[in-house]
Amino acid sequence: MERVKKYDKTLLIDSSDSKGIKDCARHLVNGEVIGFPTETVYGLGCDARNGEAVKKVFEAKGRPADNPLICHIGDKDQIKDIVSEITPLAQRLIDAFMPGPITVVMKKAACISDETTAGLDTVGVRMPSNPVANKFLKACGVPVAAPSANLSGRPSPTGARSVLEDMDGYIYAVIDGGDSEFGLESTVVDCTGTTPVILRPGAVTKADIDSVLKGGEAVMSGSLADKETPKAPGMKYRHYAPYAQVEIMKMPEGTKIEGDDAMGSDGKISGATCTVEDLKKLSDDEAKELVNIVSPFILRSREILSSNPFARIGLYCGSEIKAMYDKMNDKILSAHTEFCVYGKTVDVSAASHGLFEGLRYLDVQEVDVILAQGFDGEGLSVAYMNRLSKASGKKEELTPGMPKPARPSRTPLPLDAFKDTFTASVLFVDDNNTSLSCCLESLMRRMLEKNEPYTSNRESDTGVEIYCESAGLTAMDGMDPDSQMDKAVKEISGIGINSIESRRANPAIYDCNDLILTVRDEQAFSIIKAFPEIKEKVFSLSTFAAANGLVMKDSSGKVMSISVPDPTGENFETYLHTAKALNAWLEILFPYIIKELGAARI
Ligand code: TXA
Ligand code: MG
Repeated sequence: MERVKKYDKTLLIDSSDSKGIKDCARHLVNGEVIGFPTETVYGLGCDARNGEAVKKVFEAKGRPADNPLICHIGDKDQIKDIVSEITPLAQRLIDAFMPGPITVVMKKAACISDETTAGLDTVGVRMPSNPVANKFLKACGVPVAAPSANLSGRPSPTGARSVLEDMDGYIYAVIDGGDSEFGLESTVVDCTGTTPVILRPGAVTKADIDSVLKGGEAVMSGSLADKETPKAPGMKYRHYAPYAQVEIMKMPEGTKIEGDDAMGSDGKISGATCTVEDLKKLSDDEAKELVNIVSPFILRSREILSSNPFARIGLYCGSEIKAMYDKMNDKILSAHTEFCVYGKTVDVSAASHGLFEGLRYLDVQEVDVILAQGFDGEGLSVAYMNRLSKASGKKEELTPGMPKPARPSRTPLPLDAFKDTFTASVLFVDDNNTSLSCCLESLMRRMLEKNEPYTSNRESDTGVEIYCESAGLTAMDGMDPDSQMDKAVKEISGIGINSIESRRANPAIYDCNDLILTVRDEQAFSIIKAFPEIKEKVFSLSTFAAANGLVMKDSSGKVMSISVPDPTGENFETYLHTAKALNAWLEILFPYIIKELGAARI
């Protein structure tokens, strides 16, 4: 389904803005689509009775229309208006768990449009417990059909920024209610019969449901028979998938999961906290167990790196695992690893809470593979593993040297969508600043434009404007660039270096750049010698690659350094060859440069 932008900008409404919330409710009743927070994930709401409005939701999400939407209400009294029958079983679950993270499937009433239920004669009903959701749904007064507010197939959003990331310009507004409490979608239970069938596991667990039944047990929905209409049609689609490949690292057998049993057991290693210092305090048994948990991450990372030395690996893991990595201090491994720490390793509710944002965060860090902590056992682990398996349930093996699948083009967020922005800048230096450094500046500028906008890699709601410039150690000011190099760069990127005038590098120029990259090693060396106080930010292309663990070998196993002979006076082919080589190196170094500048791609 074609996605068409409808607005310049999606409004971001603060949860304290009562007037804004009422305005959103009015727009929803008039047929618009509104993003809103719930305790599970953010939803994309519309009037469930209005088929045309529902179509807009499917369109904004790029979602197949045979996947029904859940109806949200702000008041239990609304249930009788939107269903044709409340079975005793349904009533029991409503009494026990609503408002809360549960969706009860019942026979639908005629007022709910067929678009909402995708032609089914049942409807999923959910009353969120989140106070902002409640206020908004009460103001709407109509049943609100809402799927999770992500692009179809992507991880569900658990913050307003993630909704904007996928939906900016496609919906009228999103209400910012902060972080979602649970982070995984509601438990969907079919209550049309006498036995509850759990169609999708969630924070209300099977044990929770069993505890309110008068005898009998809830059953987990079995595998989907191809020919039948699946009971939860959504479950057949690929879900929650980041662009990176996800692999699940199993918890070793026998590891106890925090809070997994009714007694709220603490899990064996949950006493461990997150710093290297704290690790030293572990007992031998605890340390042994930790090594068991961390080793699958390390072994798999090494395996991946041995087949692809450029791989970037994301870890979705607990704090003890990060501390183990810090303690090992393996330079190569660390240079290739990005962490997203959810809390203590055994804490499945923290892992669930952070999962979707974690997958999105690691995507922004441009990792190729995400190794995520797995959990065994019952309870919330079932819901967590259900989402994680779907996120990983895809794709070809990571083949060495294979480019990763292209990301679908995303609409860049305008910088003013960020709370704050800062600037960062990289300087390219050679001798004359008429050829190689100009080539790097120009190519870098194209890459920056192609990948913008950028956020801070620490605060996702802070934007970063990245600049690049060039200078020469022995340059004369105001010389025209080399015309052959201009032609070569134009051939690669469409835009040459004509507009760049040479200038001599000086301390003021060094000062306003956050990273200084020289073409050759001697140039970096001479800058550092003259200005030792800035040595932290000066590298040659080669030393920068090495500092990031990028050790490249040629076919005879010799370590390659980035040496770029000066093409001055040679024929055009030599210029073109040089410019192409610089472009190739820059493409490899690009994510590392961005990272060094404190930024990340969105
Ligand atoms: O926590 C949640 O449930 C979130 C928030 C926004 O409330 N919503 C959500 O919606 O996750 P969505 O559309 O992403 O997932 C709804 C799931 C789908 O798997 C769908 O197939 C299933 O519920 N579902 C909806 N109506 C159904 C019905 N009548 N019968 C069976 N399954 C249904
Ligand atoms: Mg969803």
